[in-house]
This record gives sequence, structure tokens and C-alpha cells, in this order.
Amino acid sequence: MPPPAAVRILPELRATVAAWRREGLRVGLVPTMGALHDGHLALMRHALARADRVVASVFVNPTQFGPGEDLDRYPRDEPGDLARLAEVGVQLAWLPPVEAMYPPGDRTRVTVEGLGDGLEAVARPHFFRGVATVVAKLLNQVQPDLAVFGEKDYQQLLVVRRLARDLAIPAEILAHPTVREPDGLAMSSRNRSLTPAERAVAPALHRVLAEAAQTLADGRLAAEALATGTCRLLAAGFARVDYLELRDAEDLAPLDRVAGRPARLLAAAPLSGTRLIDNVPVRHP
Ligand code: PAJ
Repeated sequence: MPPPAAVRILPELRATVAAWRREGLRVGLVPTMGALHDGHLALMRHALARADRVVASVFVNPTQFGPGEDLDRYPRDEPGDLARLAEVGVQLAWLPPVEAMYPPGDRTRVTVEGLGDGLEAVARPHFFRGVATVVAKLLNQVQPDLAVFGEKDYQQLLVVRRLARDLAIPAEILAHPTVREPDGLAMSSRNRSLTPAERAVAPALHRVLAEAAQTLADGRLAAEALATGTCRLLAAGFARVDYLELRDAEDLAPLDRVAGRPARLLAAAPLSGTRLIDNVPVRHP
């Protein structure tokens, strides 16, 4: 496949997308922070199967990192990313510099209330405001017909769906299931920072989620299943469990058991410097 056009200037992005639109082509967007892995590429293929042209954005968004988080250490590999985008046939890589995304004097932030509280927001209070702001900007810059997000970041997916709906952004927000390593570990750019010993512990997160989801689907109380799951994660070698919670799959309301509606089990746990997150659906009767 030819390499994607690498665009760094907003008027050039807009001109290219406008030309596609004049031809009547459907445009898809896949936002990323780069260090692309097979999970990202699955989202690109999903978009390419549903749109005529796909824009992949690569932007390590400073506003979603809190003080002391890994903004400076976040992996960056532009040549590798462009090669991977060429592999799947993405037509345009949108690589904005920070000043294009946050021009001097930028004062506007997007907050999604409710969905953006709890779970990830407890350890990372700045996170969803930064995500919602940058995703709103990307959707306005590209004005795609559709945009694809991963279930790997489940709370983020719901925040994005809600902001698109509430701000009347016309893009269709599509979800893609989590892409995993053969041992169950959810693919993530941050997996690159795991030591071999940590990498050996990491798949326990998905294993414990899958076991707990099975128990919960059988109708057990969340308090019991989640206490067992937390003990198993600590025994497997996680330093701490930030959360392991059963939530309604659509509005993230806390649940004390599964009952007749789609539910989701979500967890976050750090392994020294690297914080892993994962989630699974829970079958309901
Ligand atoms: P990033 O972590 O690079 O992820 C980009 C997209 O890929 C997100 O929609 C994420 O859910 C999805 N993704 C990552 N790993 C995945 C996996 N193993 N399986 C399926 N999908 C996966 O998420 C972000 O960037 C940022 O917050 C962003 C939305 C780009 C805003 O800055």
C-alpha cells in the first residue's frame, strides 16, 4: 500500500477532506496517541471497511495527562506509526503539532458529567476532560462520517459517545472489541514499558476479570465476586488494585449484581510504573 499523506497543518487537512467530500466519499476517523499496535490497526481496518477514506490521527494529548503522569515517557515512534498505517492502507495521517490543537490563548474545555466521574477519573481526575476536549476538536477538524474507538477504554468510549450526542456532532461513533495478546493481555502502547517479570504477571488482569464475569453471570453478589477477584490480583503480583467494579454497560451506574441488563466489569491495577486497565462484558440472564 502507498504510505498515507502525512499532514501537519489544519487548512491542508480540511482541503483534502473537502475534496473527498466533493467526490461523494465517506470519511472515517481513528484517533490515537501513536506507538501503534495491532489493536489500533484493527480499528483502522474496521474504519476502512466502512468508509472510503480513513484519517488516523496521532497526537499525544497533553491535557489528558496529570502532573507526574507519563507524558514525557509516553512512547513516540512516528516512522514506525507511518509504516504501520501504510500496511493497512490508511489514506491520511493527521499529525498536528501541539500549537495546532491548542492555539495560544486556548481556553475551552469539554466536560462530560457523570460518565466522566469514578473508575478512571479517581486516579486520573484530569483525564476525561482532556480526552473529551481533544476528541471534540478532532471530530470538528476532520468532520468524519464515522469515528472508531476501542472497548479497551470502555469509559472513554461512553464519554465520547455522549459528547458527540450532546454537542450534536454528526459523526457515528463505532466501537471495536478489545484486541488481546494470545495470553489474554489487552494490547496497549504502555505494555512496551513492562519488564519481563511484569509482563509475566500482566495477563492475570484479564484472567481474573474473565473468572469474575463468569461468577457474576451465574447471579452471585458483586461484593463477593469482586473481593475474591481483588485477592487474586494481589496474589498474582499486582502492587494495588485501583478498582474492580461491576457497572451498567450503558450508563456505568454501579450494580450489586447482574440483572436483566447488559453489564460491564472494569478494572485498573498498577505494576510498579505501568498502570494496566481492562474490562469485559458480563452475560446477563
Ligand atoms: P490510544 O491509547 O492510542 O488509543 C487509541 C484508540 O485505540 C482508542 O479508541 C483505544 O480504545 C483503542 N485501543 C487501544 N488499545 C486497544 C486494544 N487492545 N483493542 C482495541 N482497541 C484498542 O485512547 C487514546 O489513545 C486517547 O485517549 C485518544 C482517544 C486518542 C484521545 O487522545
